[in-house]
Amino acid sequence: MYSEKVMDHFQNPRNVGEIENASGVGTVGNAKCGDIMRIYLDIDEDKVIRDVKFKTFGCGAAVATSSMATELVKGKTVQEALEVTNKAVMEALDGLPPVKVHCSLLAEEAIHAALWDYAEKNGIQIEGLEKPKADISEEEEEEEY
Ligand code: FES
Repeated sequence: MYSEKVMDHFQNPRNVGEIENASGVGTVGNAKCGDIMRIYLDIDEDKVIRDVKFKTFGCGAAVATSSMATELVKGKTVQEALEVTNKAVMEALDGLPPVKVHCSLLAEEAIHAALWDYAEKNGIQIEGLEKPKADISEEEEEEEY
């Protein structure tokens, strides 16, 4: 049911942990499944993501997508990181079963939340970044109707 890459990132997740005095921290949950993800970003003066760590209290797909998402944003500028969508994360993992697509949204939103926190702390705006939701299940419900 899961690709080899998903299993690999689930069993050996990259960038697990936290960053002290991070430039930005984002926490996003999904009240429906109860899963929570927190992303820490260390961003240098050129707006490049020097380091990234995550903690995920959630399902295996959420762990694998957070792991892959952190790998994809590391070394990128904040603007480039914004373009790392949940689709890009899923492609990099060779796909996810349809019932697990929402798990990859958690990773995208947690990165956006961390970028938002960084922008707020520094009094800057990141073009195209919208204020992220703390609970993404609301959004899903809206989409269902
Ligand atoms: Fe909710 Fe995976 S089941 S994030």
